Amino acid sequence: MSELVINQIQANVPKAWNPSLETKIIRAKNAEIWDENEKRYLDYVGGYAVLNTGHVHPKVIERVKKQLDNFTHSCFAYAPHQNAVEVCTELNSRYPIEGETKTFLVNSGAEAVENAVKIARYYTGKQHIVAFKGGFHGRTYMAMGLTGKENPYKKGFGPFPDFISHSEFPYNYRDISDDEAINMFQEHLEKIGSSNIAAILIEIQLGEGGYIPASEYFLKKIKNIAHQNNILLIFDEVQTGFGRTGEMFGANTINVSPDIATLAKGIAGGFPLAAVIGKSEIMDAIHDAGIGSTFGASPVSCAAALGVLDAFDEENILESVKRHSQIMNDFLNVLKNEHDFIGDVRGYGTMIGVEIVSNLESKSPSKDKAMKIISNARDAGLLLVNCGLEGNVIRFMGPLTTPDNQVVEAMEIFKESVKSI
Ligand SMILES: Cc1ncc(COP(=O)(O)O)c(C=O)c1O
Repeated sequence: MSELVINQIQANVPKAWNPSLETKIIRAKNAEIWDENEKRYLDYVGGYAVLNTGHVHPKVIERVKKQLDNFTHSCFAYAPHQNAVEVCTELNSRYPIEGETKTFLVNSGAEAVENAVKIARYYTGKQHIVAFKGGFHGRTYMAMGLTGKENPYKKGFGPFPDFISHSEFPYNYRDISDDEAINMFQEHLEKIGSSNIAAILIEIQLGEGGYIPASEYFLKKIKNIAHQNNILLIFDEVQTGFGRTGEMFGANTINVSPDIATLAKGIAGGFPLAAVIGKSEIMDAIHDAGIGSTFGASPVSCAAALGVLDAFDEENILESVKRHSQIMNDFLNVLKNEHDFIGDVRGYGTMIGVEIVSNLESKSPSKDKAMKIISNARDAGLLLVNCGLEGNVIRFMGPLTTPDNQVVEAMEIFKESVKSI
């Protein structure tokens, strides 16, 4: 990035929001982006797991352009429009919650989580929400409180809303087995008193928390315990949703259905849109105008979401995810066997995390090595970011529409980046 642009950024945006990439993006297509110097990158950051259908997907752009010719905004609660109704109808028919469901549209993942919690508290008449260590749910106050990763998300921002607590998430690589996490969860419920708990909020695979998948076994147990105690189960599918885990939703992948789910990120191909889907009985419990949003259900974002669904319906994207997942896992596991600082390769679908450690014996997290690999990859044209409580997990969040040869190219660049640290 030129000195002038860096100075302009530093003078005009808060330090905490200064971008990681020191070059400006000027153009993008599917999984490729080009910077101001015409350097090309493979985008495995994907706008932070947003560009599931890639940059400027033609079906998304076509729908959006058509909508822009008609009108750009209408507050749905006052003047409804067809795009939002179609998005809600589609999500109700596609998301695997048992029985009739209803969908409410908002703008961001955090807002979806806020609303899911509002609705769960209202419906159950109870207050407490149990979330999980390592979970990330957004940056608004309730969502931040629910987030189970202190630094950087919560540090210095407290106090947080009352009646939130965190239980242990299973982490096989670090010896927290499913059964241990279930025992700790049960003890946690006993301590709080299940009659006070409105809902359990959980990611099917931790995102920010280190790309750690929860198993079908674990989530089934959690669901059973929740239902035995009249507690609602909320899946935060903001990151796992829309194809990333190999099925349309994480709930399909692990064969467990929640009472409420939140979606955002990839659902509208880069336009801001989020959704809360829940059993009709729960969603309809709220009094008139008790939930709402000025910009939620933007007709433009909803048009984009319909374009994303067109792409999923017509382009075999889920097949590509399964193929890419195989290519990536094969490749990364070979790499793991070659380097004693690659501790673990894991995750559903293409949502793969590579855990970097000092060595296999100590398993001591090595953020330094992870950042060096990421930096090597960036220089060689592959964009990646880290995650995890210790920042030592490298994650892959590229478009699901990436051509196979570019998936292989990304793996080759990663291999060289690992080799040269
Ligand atoms: C699982 C999960 N929930 C919620 C959020 C918050 O979404 P947003 O940044 O759109 O508010 C994120 C964002 O990374 C997320 O990964």
